[in-house]
Amino acid sequence: MSRIHVYGPARLSGELSIQGSKNAVLPMMAAALLHKGITVLTNVPTIQDVDCMVSILRYIGCRCNRRGSTLEIDATFLRSVKIPDCYVSQMRSSVILLGALLGRAGEGDSSYPGGCLIGARPIDIHLEVLRNLGAEILEDGDRISAKAACGGKLCGAQFQLRYPSVGATEQALLASVLADGITVVQGAAREPEICQLCQCLNRMGAIIRGVGTDTLTIKGVEKLHDSRFDVRGDRIVAGTYLAAVMAASGSILLKDITPSDLTVPLDLMEQAGACIIRDEVKEQIAISMESHPVGLQFETEPYPGFPTDLQSPFMAFLAAGEGESLIREQVFEGRFATAEELKRMGGVIRINGREAYVTGHYPLKNAKVKARVLRGGAALVVAALAAEGETVIEDCRHIERGYEDICRDLRVLNADVRWG
Ligand code: UD1
Repeated sequence: MSRIHVYGPARLSGELSIQGSKNAVLPMMAAALLHKGITVLTNVPTIQDVDCMVSILRYIGCRCNRRGSTLEIDATFLRSVKIPDCYVSQMRSSVILLGALLGRAGEGDSSYPGGCLIGARPIDIHLEVLRNLGAEILEDGDRISAKAACGGKLCGAQFQLRYPSVGATEQALLASVLADGITVVQGAAREPEICQLCQCLNRMGAIIRGVGTDTLTIKGVEKLHDSRFDVRGDRIVAGTYLAAVMAASGSILLKDITPSDLTVPLDLMEQAGACIIRDEVKEQIAISMESHPVGLQFETEPYPGFPTDLQSPFMAFLAAGEGESLIREQVFEGRFATAEELKRMGGVIRINGREAYVTGHYPLKNAKVKARVLRGGAALVVAALAAEGETVIEDCRHIERGYEDICRDLRVLNADVRWG
C-alpha cells in the first residue's frame, strides 16, 4: 500500500494528538546501548525508522520489547559491535550508533552511509568528533571501523564543531557520557531533539550541563542506571498538519505538542494569515485559517531558525496561496526536488540554486505524483488537499519512515485521504 489517494479540495477541522518525535527517539534508542540494563521509552511512534533501529539493536544483542507506544530496551549483553550494512542503507542516521558502541564497548563498525536525494550528507564532522575523543578510525572502502585508542576507553576532550550538525552533536554526547574525564562540545546543535537526548541521558545517570545552549559539558561517569523517559511530540509532524490547514483552510487543535519547539514556523504561518493560539502548559496548538496564505520570505537554518524538514510542506502551502514567496534552503542542497512534483500539480515555482521563487495559485490541480522522500512526500499530501479532484501520490513508503499513518491523521481532521 504505497499509494495515497487525496480527494480535494478539503477543509480541515477537529482535534489530533501528535505522535512521539522520530528524531528524538532514534538517538535515545542508541543511548540505551550505553547502559548494561533496562531503558524504557514511552510515546514511541510506530514508524519504519523505529522498526529499523529495533532490528539493529536486536542484531547487536539487545532485547527489545514493544507494548503499544512503550519500548523496553535491555542492553545487558552485547554480542556484536557491527551495524549490518542493510540497515545503514535503510536509515543513514544509524551512524550515531558508532559513538554509542565506542562508549559502551570501546569499538564499533559500520558501513559508510551514502548520500541521498536531499544531499551528499557527509559524516566528516561525526568522525572528527570521535577522533577528538580518542578513537582511531579506519576507513576502508565503504567500511568504517572505530576503536578507542587508550585502553579501550574514550577520553574527554574540548573541541568546537565546524557546523552545528545534529547528528554529530548526538555522536559527541553518546561517545562522551562514559568517557574518562570531561568533554566540552562548543558550537553544538541546539535542536529540541538534542535537548531531549541530554535530558534522557541525564535521567539515565549521565552528567551533562549546558542543555539547550551551544556549549555542552559532559562529565564522564562509570556507569548508568535503569530509567524511563517520555518522548515529546514530533514538531515536524505537527508542522506538516499545520501546513495542511494553511493549504486547505479550516480550524484544528493539535495536542501533545510543545508550541515553543515551533516558534519560527508558527510566526511565519501567522504572517501568512493564520490565527494561532499556543498553549505551552497544555501542550496544544490551535490554528484557524480562513483565507489563502499570502507570500513569505524565509531561509532554513539550524535551530532556533526555520527547520529544513518543514521547508517542503511550507512550499506546498505557499504554492496554493496567493502571493510571491522566496525560500532559501541553507541546510540540505537537494531539498528542492519536491518542487518538480508540485509543478505537476500546477505549482508555479522557479528554482535558482539554493533559492526557490513560488507564485501562489489556488486551487492546485490533481495529478499523479511521486513521493521520493519523507518530508517532500508529506508535502505532496499537503498540496493535494488544496487541489481539485483526485491526486494520486505514489512511492509513499518514504512517508511511512516518519509518519505513523498520515491518512488516518488527516481523516481525523476530516480530509478525504486513503491508502490504496
Ligand atoms: C538531522 C535530522 C534531519 C534534519 C537535520 C537538520 C535526524 C534523524 N535527522 O539530520 O531530519 O533535517 O538534522 O535539522 O535527526 N554535515 C556535514 N558533515 C557531517 C554532518 C553533517 O557536512 O559530518 C552537513 C549535512 O550534509 C547537512 C548539514 O550538515 O548539509 C546538516 O546536517 P545535520 O545537522 O548533521 O543533519 P542530520 O543529523 O543528518
